[in-house]
Amino acid sequence: MSTAIRKFQEKIFAFYRRQGRDLPWRRTTDPYRILVSEIMLQQTQVERVIPFYERWLERWDSVDALAGASLQEVLEQWMGLGYNNRAMRLLETAKRITADYAGDVLAACREYRNLPGVGEYTSRAVRIFAANENLAAVDTNIRRILMAEFSLQNPSTADLRQLAERCLPIGRSRDWHNALMDYGALHLTAAKSGISPVSRQGKFAGSVRQLRAEILRELLQKGQLPCQYFEGDERFPAALRGLLREGLCRREDNMLFIPK
Ligand code: ADE
Repeated sequence: MSTAIRKFQEKIFAFYRRQGRDLPWRRTTDPYRILVSEIMLQQTQVERVIPFYERWLERWDSVDALAGASLQEVLEQWMGLGYNNRAMRLLETAKRITADYAGDVLAACREYRNLPGVGEYTSRAVRIFAANENLAAVDTNIRRILMAEFSLQNPSTADLRQLAERCLPIGRSRDWHNALMDYGALHLTAAKSGISPVSRQGKFAGSVRQLRAEILRELLQKGQLPCQYFEGDERFPAALRGLLREGLCRREDNMLFIPK
């Protein structure tokens, strides 16, 4: 291993010893709990996720328990966290893991293409944090750290992956990724590094995404709604199209429902 990589590892681990965060999903190696945390963290900040994560696990403490929930229940529990289709995909994924993998979350994550909402990053993260597998995962924080550390301008995904693999300290994958995430979140932030993420969330206020959330909230409360309810909001056609396409909403004549 090159000296540069060894020094980089020492720096990151030294930071982690001093400032590593105690986060609820770091107190477990249960792959189900890790999976829930990673799906919640996909587009949401750590501080916002924590209370949702804890409430979720109080209600559904295993993948089998979650697989028995209804879409209405999981959406109600998810409301406020945003990007609600994550909740539906997590439910669908739990059902597949229960039906096709006898509830074995890790085995299922190794074949993540069968799991809605679980991409390559999330699958690796679960295997790393639950089983300490010697894999490299590159999220937006880790990408930024690697770019800053090795002075990369426009690295390809493949180049970043390869570099991340070269940097991985074998046998310490879990600690290493936790340490990198803390270094990226607390020290080498996007603002400090000047390196912006590949994709950025659009504004919520006034967006189609906001109306989608509003439609869902009303539907969860009232059970059903006539389409005319949202008449006059120019975002409605786009919002409804998205909800129907993703299966978050069902339409019969002019009434809207949450699918069973
Ligand atoms: N973002 C994604 N996964 C995370 C984790 N396990 N800890 C902190 N931030 C994260």
